[in-house]
Amino acid sequence: MNRCDRRLVACALFAIIAVVAAASYDRERLEIAKQILEEVPLIDGHNDLPWNIRKFLRNQVNDFELDTDLTVVEPWSISKYSHTDLPRLREGMVGAQFWSAFVPCGTQNRDAVQLTLEQIDVIKRLVEKYPQQLQFATSVTDILQSHGARPRKIASLIGIEGGHSIANSLAVLRSYYQLGVRYMTLTHTCHTPWADSANEAPAANGLTDFGEKVVREMNRLGMIVDLSHVGENSTRAAIKLSKAPVIFSHSSVYSLCNHNRNVPDDIIKSLKDNGGIIMVNFFPDFVKCAPNATLSDVAEHFHHIKRLVGADYVGIGGDFDGVNRVPRGLEDVSKYPELFAELLRSGQWSVQELKNLAGLNMLRVMRQVEKVRDEMRTNGVEPEEHPDSPSDNGNCTSNAFYTENV
Ligand SMILES: *[C@@H]1O[C@H](CO)[C@@H](O)[C@H](O)[C@H]1NC(C)=O
Ligand SMILES: *[C@@H]1O[C@H](CO)[C@@H](O)[C@H](O)[C@H]1NC(C)=O
Ligand SMILES: *[C@@H]1O[C@H](CO)[C@@H](O)[C@H](O)[C@H]1NC(C)=O
Repeated sequence: MNRCDRRLVACALFAIIAVVAAASYDRERLEIAKQILEEVPLIDGHNDLPWNIRKFLRNQVNDFELDTDLTVVEPWSISKYSHTDLPRLREGMVGAQFWSAFVPCGTQNRDAVQLTLEQIDVIKRLVEKYPQQLQFATSVTDILQSHGARPRKIASLIGIEGGHSIANSLAVLRSYYQLGVRYMTLTHTCHTPWADSANEAPAANGLTDFGEKVVREMNRLGMIVDLSHVGENSTRAAIKLSKAPVIFSHSSVYSLCNHNRNVPDDIIKSLKDNGGIIMVNFFPDFVKCAPNATLSDVAEHFHHIKRLVGADYVGIGGDFDGVNRVPRGLEDVSKYPELFAELLRSGQWSVQELKNLAGLNMLRVMRQVEKVRDEMRTNGVEPEEHPDSPSDNGNCTSNAFYTENV
């Protein structure tokens, strides 16, 4: 063996050692990530599986097997919108999921309330169908109990996506709370008569009187105000008014991708005073303003928020089952540990900060929302009323029949 060959051999050996070492660091980071998710519940802010169950199965769940590999079951296997089943949720170490009781804007002034109730019903039926794996949850205590249970259960919470679901009725809002709904996104892609969507030109340009009542009533009930999808000025007005922390259940960073679904830096900064969190959405269109993104592109959004306000005002809202494109490396709900491994790899996050990001921040938000509710109750704050309810319902409601004088 001449000198040159020897050097080549040494070089090759070194390269192999480097690759093996890198692989073992990767494995080590993944192990630390999994340990983090063993210790604290990973809470995801938004998953649209219930809507897909409506689209694909008309909510007939008796014969639906969420506890199987849906990547080989049609129509799930051929849908770009399907990223969720129980085996993958377990692999992804999801501790708590806010399932979205979403109904589209096309239901506004029509049958929004009925369809929303049907989505709440299908979420509850699904949870009851898998009592060994899922546990219905409405509180911090419930989430911690599910996470502490052996076998561990995935705490299942309900969020409503769009104020059109209440049909301009605080009574309907209160009834949703009684059914277990714990957040409401003030708008989806359409304005309500009382708050603006980011998707349309400003109309309320803030909150109307009724919109303020909605936020105050949500504070009193203990329902989290969610501002994903909401127009900027309505968002600012809601943050200013809310006595309790708010969330963005599935939104990313505007300064990294100028999409109206993302949150501008000044609003992210205002979360520090409010105590709320932005739960980062993985949709490539919001992450990169492009159809393609990678795990490390998603990580950039987390890094940005941390640089801006620290690690206490951030969470995760993957938007799985609600999007038809996913980043490379975050293809479905089994991949959350990879995200934590990636954040560890950056060297920018401590283990404690990652625990906060995973779930402790959201638990803090929920605890504070519960505290504000309890204080308002103690102080005897009465339910909001609205004889002057904004009625955008045209001739679709029977309101007109009941307004005669005695
Ligand atoms: C917010 O309100 C201000 C003042 O009315 C207005 O100039 C601005 O265009 C609004 N911003 C958005 C995004 O609607
Ligand atoms: C984006 O991803 C799709 C599907 O994974 C692929 O076919 C396409 O070439 C990618 N485009 C770019 C610009 O990377
Ligand atoms: C309601 O019905 C009345 C009488 O038919 C009609 O004049 C009016 O334009 C309708 N209002 C709306 C909002 O459709």
